[in-house]
Amino acid sequence: MKKETNYKKIIPQIKSVLEKEQDDIARMATISCMLQHEIPYFFWTGFYRVTNQNMLTVGPYQGTLGCLNIGFKRGVCGACATKKKTIIVPDTHAFAGHIACDARSNSEIVVPVFKNKKLIAVFDVDSVEKNSFCEIDKQYLEELVKIFSNVNT
Ligand code: SME
Repeated sequence: MKKETNYKKIIPQIKSVLEKEQDDIARMATISCMLQHEIPYFFWTGFYRVTNQNMLTVGPYQGTLGCLNIGFKRGVCGACATKKKTIIVPDTHAFAGHIACDARSNSEIVVPVFKNKKLIAVFDVDSVEKNSFCEIDKQYLEELVKIFSNVNT
């Protein structure tokens, strides 16, 4: 199935389930679960929340055991939080500082999550294949994190 087809099917479903749910954790858990079960190349799907200053702590996710805490200076997640921009890593083994929570992860995308213009989390997706993520994933995952942030959508 084409990437766009997957996203165009699941995004309206996620939007509909999130309707009227205001709790951040419930919204993060729902997004992680629904995406992980719809998109075949999603191996680890979840959120790291900004807890203390310059620290990311694992939030709702689907997949194998994730690292619990990641400093802003570490890993792809830290780079995303620092730059406040989406990062696509075609080959995790070639990314200096990549944190291998699971050695099977071979490519990754991390998207910043804002609420009221403040960075509150990053959304991380890993794949076991190299080169899984492209501009199409970036476009739809950025749309999804905006849906997350708009409580009344
Ligand atoms: N690979 C990430 C760490 C989180 S796990 O992929 C779940 C990183 O380098 O920041």
